Parts: sequence; C-alpha cells; structure tokens
Amino acid sequence: MTSAQRWPERGWALLQLFLVAFFSQAEEQVCQLRGDSENPQLSKDGDIILGGIFSFHSSWNDRQKTYTYKPLPLECTSLNFRDFQIAQAMLFAIEEINNSTDLLPGISLGYKMYDTCRSIARSVRVALALANGIEVVSAPSVASCTRPISHFATCACLSDKTKYPSFLRTIPSDYYQSRALAQLVKHFGWTWVGAIRSDNDYGNNGMAIFTETAQQLGICLEYSVAFLRTDPPNKIQKIIDIIQLSSSKVIVAFLSFLDLDVLMNKLSLYNLTGYQWVGTEGWIFDSQTSEMDKNHILDGAIGLSIPKAHVSSMREFILNVKAVHSSGNDMLAEFWEALFNCKFKQSNSSTENQRECTGHEDLSGLQNSFIDMSLMPIFNNVYKSVYAVAHALHSFLGCNETCNYKKGKPVCCYDCIRCAEGEINSITCVRCQPEFWSNDRRDTCVKKEAEFLSYEEIMGALLTASSLFGTCMTAVVAFIFFRYRKTPIVRANNSELSFLLLFSLTLCFLCSLTFIGRPSEWSCMLRHTAFGITFVLCISCVLGKTMVVLMAFRASLPGSNVMKWFGPTQQRLSVLAFTLIQVVICILWLTISPPFPFRNLKELKDKIILECALGSTVGFWAVLGYIGLLASFCFILAFLARKLPDNFNEAKFITFSMLIFCAVWITFIPAYVSSPGKFSVAVEIFAILASSFGLLICIFIPKCYIILLKPEKNTKKKMMGK
Ligand SMILES: *[C@@H]1O[C@H](CO)[C@@H](O)[C@H](O)[C@H]1NC(C)=O
Ligand SMILES: *[C@@H]1O[C@H](CO)[C@@H](O)[C@H](O)[C@H]1NC(C)=O
Ligand SMILES: *[C@@H]1O[C@H](CO)[C@@H](O)[C@H](O)[C@H]1NC(C)=O
Ligand SMILES: *[C@@H]1O[C@H](CO)[C@@H](O)[C@H](O)[C@H]1NC(C)=O
Ligand SMILES: *[C@@H]1O[C@H](CO)[C@@H](O)[C@H](O)[C@H]1NC(C)=O
Repeated sequence: MTSAQRWPERGWALLQLFLVAFFSQAEEQVCQLRGDSENPQLSKDGDIILGGIFSFHSSWNDRQKTYTYKPLPLECTSLNFRDFQIAQAMLFAIEEINNSTDLLPGISLGYKMYDTCRSIARSVRVALALANGIEVVSAPSVASCTRPISHFATCACLSDKTKYPSFLRTIPSDYYQSRALAQLVKHFGWTWVGAIRSDNDYGNNGMAIFTETAQQLGICLEYSVAFLRTDPPNKIQKIIDIIQLSSSKVIVAFLSFLDLDVLMNKLSLYNLTGYQWVGTEGWIFDSQTSEMDKNHILDGAIGLSIPKAHVSSMREFILNVKAVHSSGNDMLAEFWEALFNCKFKQSNSSTENQRECTGHEDLSGLQNSFIDMSLMPIFNNVYKSVYAVAHALHSFLGCNETCNYKKGKPVCCYDCIRCAEGEINSITCVRCQPEFWSNDRRDTCVKKEAEFLSYEEIMGALLTASSLFGTCMTAVVAFIFFRYRKTPIVRANNSELSFLLLFSLTLCFLCSLTFIGRPSEWSCMLRHTAFGITFVLCISCVLGKTMVVLMAFRASLPGSNVMKWFGPTQQRLSVLAFTLIQVVICILWLTISPPFPFRNLKELKDKIILECALGSTVGFWAVLGYIGLLASFCFILAFLARKLPDNFNEAKFITFSMLIFCAVWITFIPAYVSSPGKFSVAVEIFAILASSFGLLICIFIPKCYIILLKPEKNTKKKMMGK
C-alpha cells in the first residue's frame, strides 16, 4: 500500500474513512503479524463482514514512553456519543439489509467496528487491520477486497483516482463547497476577508480551491493561516494575534470541528466577538458547535450544510439502546455508564459517589448529545454507504466465473471490460432497447439510424438515373418507330405489339422508381405488383411477337392458314389474357396479405432497416414465378424459331434478349436472398433495369440501326427477297 506512508498527514479525513467489506476465503496464510492484533470494539459474525472505523472516544491518556518495553495499548478517554449514534446508524442499515429478502437474500451480514480514539496512528492501524485482516492470524485469511467508503470525508484530494483508485464517498467533494463559499462571500459583498484552515488535507485543499475562486471573483484575502489542534500553544497564539491586528471583519474558517473547538477555547479568552464567520460543513451545521460556543463568538455564522434527510425508523433504532446493554460488551457498559451517569457493579472503579446502574435506565428523561438527532444528514450518508456496499456485493455475488470480469487474482478483483456492441456499462453490461444501439464509448444508448435506399445517396441516385435514362431511350425508340411506322421493317412484325412492348418497357423502367425512397404503405403495395404486371405485359408482347414469327413461317408454307388462327385479334387477346392472370394474382396478394412497411431491427445490429415486408411470401414468389414461367415459355419458343428464315433475324434477337432476361433473373434470386438491408432492394432494381435494357437493346436497337443508318435494307423488295 504505497499511500500508507502519507496517511498520517491526512489527519481527520482519514478518521472518517470507515466502511470496508471483505470476504472470507480459504487461502494459505503467508504473512504473520508481529505485534498485538487489533480487536474490534463491536463485532458480530456473518457471511460478509462490514468494517467500520469510528471514534467512540475522543481522546487518550498520554503514557510515558520509556522505550524499554513494548508500548501498552492506547488508553482511551472521553466517550463520544456522536460516533455511537453513527455506529447505530450503520447497524440499522446492516440489520435492514440483513432482514431484506431482496438485497443479499440468504446472506447474513456481520460487522467489525473499531475505535480510533481520534488517534491518527491508531486509525492507520485499524484501517490496515480491516484491509489486511491482520487480526485473524491463524484463521483463514481474508481476501484483500477492501473498498473504503466515507460518509464524511469531503477533501477534494480524495477524488484523485490515480492516488485513491478505490476510494468512494456518499458526500460531495469540497471542490463544490469551496467554490460555493467563495460565491457566498461575494454575494454579500465581502471583498476583504481573512481565512483560517485546518493544517491538513481537508483544510489545505479546501482553502486552495476557495482562494483560487475568490481571486477570480475579486475577493482579497488579508491573511490565510493554518493550524492543527495538536500544534503547540504559541502557534495558536500567533493566529489570535493576526486576527486581532487585522482589519477584515469576515473570517472564512475551513476547519474541522475539533480544530475549531481548540481555536474557540483560545478566542473566548480574548473576547474576540463581532466577527462574521463563514464556515464549512465540518462544523457549521453541528449543534455541538453552538453548545461549545458559550461566548457567542460564532453567532451569525453562515455556511453550507449537508441537505436535510429523513430515514424512517432510524431515530427509533438509534435510541433503542436496550439491546446494546444486554450484550455484555466492555465498551457498551462504559457507554451506558456515561449515558446515565451511573456505574455497573462489576466495573472495577470507585463506585462510592455514584449510583449503581441497573441496566433498565430510561432514555426518555435524558438530556445529552445522544438524544440529539441533528446529525441525521450524516446518518443518512452512513446509511447510503452501507447500502452502496450491499448493492455492489449483491451484483457481485450474482456473478460467477464467467464474469471474473482477471485470472489468478482474488475473485473480487476485476477490470472493467468493454461491453459488447449494443450494450452499455452500468453495474453490469446492460443491453440497449431494440431500437437503440450503444455509442463508441459504451456509455449511452443512441437511437439506431434508419436505413433505406434513398434518392440522395450515390447508389439510389445512379439507379434513378439509369431508370430515367432507360425511359428516355424507350421514348426515343418509340419516336423513331412512330416516324417510320410506314416502312416495311416496322410493319413487318406487327407494329401494334411493338408499340405495346415499348409502352410496357417504359413502365418497367419507371416502376423501378417505386423501390427507391422511404417505404410507405402505398409504395410497398405498388412495388412488387406494378413490377409484376408491367413485366408480364412486356413478356406477353415478346411472346406474341415470337408466336407471330413462328406462325408467319408456317403461314408461308404452302397450304397453311395458321395466320387465321393467330391474327391481330388473337394476339391482342393473348396479351390481355396473360396479363390478366398476373393482375388476378396481384389482387389476391393485395387483398389477402399485402406487403407493408416494416422496421427490421434484427438483420443489422446497429441500424434499423426500413423495408417492405412481403406480407405473403407465396404472393411474391407467385408473381415472380409467373413471370419466370412466361419468360421460359417465350425463351423456348424463340429458341425453336431462331433458325427460321424470317425478316431481320427477329427470332434470333428475341432468343438473345430472353437469354439475358432469364440469366438476370436466375442470378437475381440468390443475390436477393443474401443481400443485407437496402442492398436487396438495389439488387431487385438492378435486375429490373438490366432485364428491361436487355429487351430494349436486343429487340429494338438493331431495327433502329437499319431504319436510321441502312435505309437501303428497309425496303419491301429486300424483305420479300428473303
Ligand atoms: C442477520 O440475520 C441472521 C439470521 O438471518 C442473524 O443470525 C444475524 O444475527 C443477523 N445479523 C445482524 C447484524 O442483524
Ligand atoms: C430485523 O428483523 C428483526 C426480527 O424480525 C426485527 O426485530 C428488527 O427490528 C429488524 N431490523 C430492522 C432494521 O428492520
Ligand atoms: C468580554 O466582553 C464582555 C461583554 O461584551 C465583558 O463583560 C467582558 O468583561 C469582556 N472580557 C474581556 C476579558 O475583555
Ligand atoms: C480491581 O481493583 C482492585 C483495587 O482497586 C485491584 O486489586 C484489582 O486487581 C482490580 N481488578 C481488576 C479485574 O482490574
Ligand atoms: C453464470 O451466471 C449467468 C447469469 O447469472 C448464468 O446464465 C450462467 O449459467 C452462469 N454460469 C455458470 C458456469 O454458473
């Protein structure tokens, strides 16, 4: 323990460190204590022992040190009722938790409470006794799992986690008090003040922060002096002189109660009244201060106090000291004697001029500081400390090897590991709500980003541009065909089907746009159905054209009149019939179980995917399957017709376009199924665009080429020549 050497300087702050929790663990005892062991003044056995360090006595008798024999144990004097109260507050919390079925169920709590007698040396001894378990030499050793928690140590220095990594407290740091005091002094317009502080970490650190803030606020310190109650009288005398000679009438006292007590005793001799005192929580709210201040030196003092608090039943518990007496403990007997100013028979001191204690004395008539509950805010801090320890132990004991959270170290030593993604640090890692995700520092849950294919992002913009480009290209082709509608090449293979095909291609290109943007109820229903119907319309037209090629060949054979069976009316009807089937499928899908917008929280862990749920998967695959069926049929017919001598190799180009179409949609399925989030939508749009371009380019571009660049081939003669 590297800071142990510095402990004595810390003085009063240290006396207030008090809570230590430790566990019994069967381990080989390595070290042996040389010297006397420290025995707790109050103790009770339990599965888990909480330690407490108090000053049940305020002083001790100086013994002559001869250095010829081992020093005797400290002989403590002046019983201090206040710390008895605080110990009772701790007991109350321990019993309450011990009784509780929610917190640490099935675990009995014990305690060990030590008396420091306000001796710094003894404080260090008992603190180490608790930390190291040196009082149990032959018993199983105690794992070094100590966490000091203070209910009263306010020194800002203790917030330094590099020096005091395990220190905790249930009272705010002086960092706030010092600055608030400076603001208070400034508020009353006191810009010329004197300052006195305890010459320890409490006073020195507190005053340093006060001074810094005061300077910023334009407050001047006439003097700033430090002393400790154990200082020689001439040092305190010097301070009195400084106060007497000063011109400032406001004194800021960053003092512990004990130091103030010593100072007041001196000041009252000099009748130094008429000063405005500004005090710290160390003394300002303690009712003992006004008892001690017989000469009214401190009248009108102001300062900051600990917020008022009420812990139900605690007062009754503290005052219920009957149980205390019955335990037969030496110190408790002494306490009882002091409380009722009597003596127990067995006690080995002179009982002549004192009445005998019965053990049934009544507390109700009593008038002393044990009855005074003005320190309830501090009791509350004690209460909170015990609960803090209990809660920590509760979560810790609910944990098993999987949490230990360091191999080879005692089970209670663990590093804070980074929580997994989607979890944040609390006492344990806590999972964020489904719509939330942890930030990088794992300290808060942030709302997940919504993901969908939007027009703004590059992929969405490119797909939109391709779709518009395809639409324009179709329009241009349609314009060329319309302009040259009288020429043989346009008239050759049923120009009506060609225009219908161009129209449906335009719709195919446009329907890809419904896939882009934030999914809404309408866009979800439109998406697949519009796509399904326009594609079936498209393929039906191509199918019609293929049939025309096949029929035309048969018709050209002698004695055939097939053309009668597949004239323009039949062609129109077949296109209509094929499309109607898809319309029926879509209507069924939309009425039975339509697609709907869906927030997918599962697929990506850190994003919400806004997508269209299919509603009915059967519907989706029926629509796709029907397109596939027609396309395959069309492909087979075109394949059969590819070698037939027709005008301008129509069947060959249709075969080729169907080949592209089928290839695109066969690759689409695995890509669609395996793409995450918005990419599956992009894949679908890509398939729509690719197959549409395939049809447009294979079927129409060669014809446009002849129309525009090789007009000499576009003659009836040429066609008849074939
Ligand atoms: C805690 O409860 C156990 C029984 O559950 C009891 O034996 C023990 O005395 C209690 N401890 C305290 C401090 O009240
Ligand atoms: C704990 O339980 C015991 C027995 O039921 C009871 O006497 C005692 O008052 C309880 N203590 C507290 C602090 O609630
Ligand atoms: C202190 O002041 C009181 C009244 O203010 C006066 O009666 C008393 O004599 C003074 N004592 C000294 C030592 O000045
Ligand atoms: C009690 O006091 C007497 C003398 O007053 C002394 O002889 C005796 O040893 C003392 N007993 C104890 C237990 O301290
Ligand atoms: C450890 O504790 C967790 C949560 O309490 C539990 O799910 C797990 O089964 C435990 N593992 C072992 C080895 O006890």
